[in-house]
Amino acid sequence: MSVTASAPAKVILLGEHFVVYGEPAIACAIDLRARVKVSESSDAIYVKSLNFNLEQVFHEGVENVEGTAYRKLKPVYIAARETLKKLNVDTGLKVYVDSEIPVASGLGSSAAVAAATVKAVSTLIGEDLGLEEVRKIAIESERYVHRNPSGIDPTISTYGGMIIYSKKTGVRKLNVREKLSLIIGDTGIQRSTGEQIKLVEGIARDYPEIFNYISKAARKLVLKASSDLERGDLTSFGRLMNVNHGLLSAVGVSCLKLEELIYTARKAGALGAKLTGGGGGGCMVAIATPERKVAVAEGLRSLGVNVYTTEVTYEGVRVE
Ligand code: MEV
Repeated sequence: MSVTASAPAKVILLGEHFVVYGEPAIACAIDLRARVKVSESSDAIYVKSLNFNLEQVFHEGVENVEGTAYRKLKPVYIAARETLKKLNVDTGLKVYVDSEIPVASGLGSSAAVAAATVKAVSTLIGEDLGLEEVRKIAIESERYVHRNPSGIDPTISTYGGMIIYSKKTGVRKLNVREKLSLIIGDTGIQRSTGEQIKLVEGIARDYPEIFNYISKAARKLVLKASSDLERGDLTSFGRLMNVNHGLLSAVGVSCLKLEELIYTARKAGALGAKLTGGGGGGCMVAIATPERKVAVAEGLRSLGVNVYTTEVTYEGVRVE
């Protein structure tokens, strides 16, 4: 028997990086999904990624094996192993990953794969883990990918929809009636979220007082923007996205290509545009009115980059 589960990618609309320091952030799930198929096997955990074209067998207790396959697939193994541990089951597994989400681009591909793995494994074992359990185990896997995650990526991939999240207060679903058109541009520059987090750590360590003010500004703008969003004031929300991008630039996580995409989107009439996720490359996100959506997407496409136009998806992790 086999079970397939899937989980969505995410975009952070406001507050990334500062969320690692306890501030709130707003994120939504989008309609690109990671799919994970699992079946039982006699011993060990075999992981194959169709995207990386890599496979690896993981044995309990055998750590730090050299090689790309081990390093890239270990988060999937951790998600599967931790799920088995939680359920007190000792079995081997075969795990196949097939994801539509571009990797290392700020759209939360590793978190979506982790959440889908937990759901698939627990369903295969016959236990219906609640969303909160799925989220917690997915965070364990995320810790291997970048050692100090805020937890926002696994949270949104698990729950779907649109949320405001902070490490202190947890998740609150946002009540948004307005349809949000999202235009995502991918610089095509892959980067490690962990490295980007380290860049911000450097600023926080060397200029604690200044960083404190920037973080506080991020908190204020996220809280103001969340009420704008719930009231349907997308114009103000977009302006605050632009302000937020300025703060992210200030702490060193933008890059020339991101700036080019962001200014192109704004020039084409976006209500707001900013980097999304770890930065340093990866993706930017813009919001636009239905009338300007196509112009913004065309503007970005004219730069020769991959563009996704999408809306919020309300389905989080699910069995297929
Ligand atoms: C990565 O998608 C978002 C960051 O804020 C890291 C995290 O919150 O774990 C950069």
